[in-house]
Amino acid sequence: MQSWLRRKPLDMVTVHEEGRRLIPTLSWPHLVALGIGAIVGTGIYTLIGVGADKAGPAVLLSFVAAGIVCACAALAYAEMATMMPAAGSAYTYSYAALGETIAWVVGWSLILEYSLVVSTVAVGWSGYFVGFLQWVQQQTGWNVTLPAALAAGPHAGGILNLPAVVITFLVAGALIAGTRESATINAFLVVFKLIALGIFVAVALPAFNAENLHPFMPYGFSKALGPDGVERGVMAAAAIIFFAFYGFDAISTAAEETKNPGRDLSIGIVGSMIGCTIIYVLVALAAVGAMSYTVFAHSAEPLALIMRQLGHGTAALAIGIVAIIALPTVLLAFFYGQSRIFFVMSRDGLLPRGLSKVNQRTGTPVTITVFTAVLVAALAGVARLDEIAALANAGTLAAFTAVAACLLVLRKREPNRERKFRTPLAWVVCPLAIAGCAYLFWSLPTRTQLWFAAWNVFGLVVYVLYSRGRAVLAKQG
Ligand code: ALA
Repeated sequence: MQSWLRRKPLDMVTVHEEGRRLIPTLSWPHLVALGIGAIVGTGIYTLIGVGADKAGPAVLLSFVAAGIVCACAALAYAEMATMMPAAGSAYTYSYAALGETIAWVVGWSLILEYSLVVSTVAVGWSGYFVGFLQWVQQQTGWNVTLPAALAAGPHAGGILNLPAVVITFLVAGALIAGTRESATINAFLVVFKLIALGIFVAVALPAFNAENLHPFMPYGFSKALGPDGVERGVMAAAAIIFFAFYGFDAISTAAEETKNPGRDLSIGIVGSMIGCTIIYVLVALAAVGAMSYTVFAHSAEPLALIMRQLGHGTAALAIGIVAIIALPTVLLAFFYGQSRIFFVMSRDGLLPRGLSKVNQRTGTPVTITVFTAVLVAALAGVARLDEIAALANAGTLAAFTAVAACLLVLRKREPNRERKFRTPLAWVVCPLAIAGCAYLFWSLPTRTQLWFAAWNVFGLVVYVLYSRGRAVLAKQG
């Protein structure tokens, strides 16, 4: 029984063999950029329409609800990340606090989260890119559009989503070239992304009309099945909108590569979370106030559509172009997180050890990055956007719950260990995070919940048959 609960000693978490250690090159401006780069993406640029479809103007409340849950989780992450500044985030914390079996479930959920976010954003990016090519063709008469078979996956009438596959490999290349260089390019792109959202708010907010907010909550609060077979309500929307808020956890996976973890991680995680929440509420208010939500609820590019409807074609084009240039920052951050999760799990012996070798010349885990790229590109080539986004949320909710639980367990078990950042009111904040995550999980589409359960059953079979006996901890007795 004991071996199912075996834990990694806290002191061991930050000690690694030579050749399997990542080089500390990052400081807090990189982390804030990595954070905002990971957070602001398809969620606000595209899923705001899906959210409005599910909640009506009350999607504003959905943003607030998802934001509160994420803020509580972010506070817990900040304490854990500064206490254990090692790559692997929720998985690593769970290994030390809750034991190997739960850590496996968390790691397996993170693999699902990171890969599906990368695939989702790659598909979203492809949508903007294909739309942009169409615009160029209309304007110039040049024949630049892709054949339909290569512009979308099978669910949308194509065969392979080629742009989604290509962008995935380009981002993998940037990561292999070196973390620091990638993080610096990322910082530039983050600025573009924020400017575009600023333009949106500046143009849409003056068109605010309170009439557009009536009726405010047409589908009620809790998830309920509508006559068209779609689950709607403020919380059903929050469970999808939740996608827009996370990404700060990608920062904590960079902990091992951070120069001054105590200061840098606290500023990086809490700062990027607060910044993004303010931006989203402004964007959502500007969107639902500017026109009836029904106009943009089904759009693949809701922010650009609102701009066009308001008669600002140039602003619409600018937002589209920025999405194409800047959405790869989200890919970069989650790709980074994904390769690091694989890396840490393989270093612990739970996944094949050959995957955790760091390349001598670049200082980055090349094998694992290429492996991740192939998996994620295959998924992005054929997957359906809304379903993979919901499933990514399920994985994230599991990880957030685990981190809040880790914090409470370690406050009891290790009260005197140094914490460079202490979550305020932890005994209120963490139970709130856990209850909020549970409610959001319940509010996800039923199909998503079943897929998530299936993924973890499969994961546990792999754990029992392969990983458990090969774990580094098992060999140490
Ligand atoms: N928060 C990220 C996005 O919205 C995942 O794209």
